[in-house]
Amino acid sequence: MRLTDCHNFHDFRALAQRRLPSPIFNYIDGAADDEATYRRNTAAFEDVDLLPRVLRGTPEVDTSVTVMGQKLALPFYLSPTALQRLFHHQGERAVAGAASKFGTMFGVSSLGTTSLEEVRKFAGPQVYQFYFHKDRGLNRAMMARAKAAGVDVMMLTVDSITGGNRERDKRTGFSIPFRLTLAGMAQFAIKPRWGINYLLHEKFALPQLDGHVDMGGGAVSIGRYFTEMLEPTLNWDDLAGMIADWNGPFCLKGVIHPDDARRAADLGCQGVVLSNHGGRQLDGSRATFDGLAEVVDAVQGRVDVMLDSGIQRGTHIVKALSLGAKAVGIGRAYLFPLAAAGQAGVERMIGLLRDEVIRDMRLMGAAKVADLGRDNIRYRRP
Ligand code: FNR
Ligand code: LAC
Repeated sequence: MRLTDCHNFHDFRALAQRRLPSPIFNYIDGAADDEATYRRNTAAFEDVDLLPRVLRGTPEVDTSVTVMGQKLALPFYLSPTALQRLFHHQGERAVAGAASKFGTMFGVSSLGTTSLEEVRKFAGPQVYQFYFHKDRGLNRAMMARAKAAGVDVMMLTVDSITGGNRERDKRTGFSIPFRLTLAGMAQFAIKPRWGINYLLHEKFALPQLDGHVDMGGGAVSIGRYFTEMLEPTLNWDDLAGMIADWNGPFCLKGVIHPDDARRAADLGCQGVVLSNHGGRQLDGSRATFDGLAEVVDAVQGRVDVMLDSGIQRGTHIVKALSLGAKAVGIGRAYLFPLAAAGQAGVERMIGLLRDEVIRDMRLMGAAKVADLGRDNIRYRRP
């Protein structure tokens, strides 16, 4: 199987599985508890049907959107994710490079393996994904650094104040810094190409945290990092303080309840991302697409509503836009391509999704994103 054999999410997932040591593949692919939310995230899109409009004469399709004051050429962006150099040695550079080429937004994670400053060299809108640590000094240093780097949008993730129950990671022993344990050595032998690249490129690092996070000299699971390093008492006052300190476009990621979205708007956020972290945190949490209309109605246009979790297809994006999302984030849908083929993989997947969105919009009779609306959607069950 080669890159040119990959035509959709499932093909890239299969190729990534072939190329990655299994603890790493399962870290990306896995979710919390029984992974019910993870499955429902994508299945939810099948509960509504699209109603295309015909005979509208739609020769050109404009896929651009403006979200949180940022102009994106595409209505989807690459949501911030951790540890990308573990997935492919090109890591964040590949993802930022691909996003920049297609004129869409990318977000570097607090747990990124390439420095924010390095990633800022790529043109185009970027968010900085913030994890709020117990160590307030670290939080202040991270904010100041993001300001100095000229970050466009600050994005605070609020659904991870404790670690989700990732049973696959428990089984495989996945931890950071990723170390070649005995089991890891066996994987190394099975996936020599990944292993050679991992060993030959820059040493694993978390430059956003810049030595502030003491792993106790050992390796910790992602669940333990959340639980031990992040601030469990994080509250609305902290958010208000952070918005004031940041003094620029601010976005809350990980909102599910419409009242929380409303409160984010009251406090002056420019964006909320309806997200359950791809099902990786609270299993049983509502699928984001199921809750989208309610959240859009709650905020009445006072804040831009974005959605992530479960997106695999152009039609998923078109359905979310029709219900009122301003843009849609993808996670695993670019991580598997990254693992499969680095920047070339991410570019191929963005290109495929872009082509799907253009084709779907044309078939919907929508020349621009604003032409899509609730009238294009019907629920199967009342
Ligand atoms: C994530 N996500 C995430 N979110 C965040 O705010 N900071 C982070 O560091 C990470 N890291 C991360 C790693 C991996 C491997 C995955 C799969 C996800 C969540 C991510 O931004 C997004 O919300 C979900 O990935 C969306 O769900 P889908 O598209 O993967 O189904
Ligand atoms: C995850 C993190 C790091 O979901 O956000 O694994």
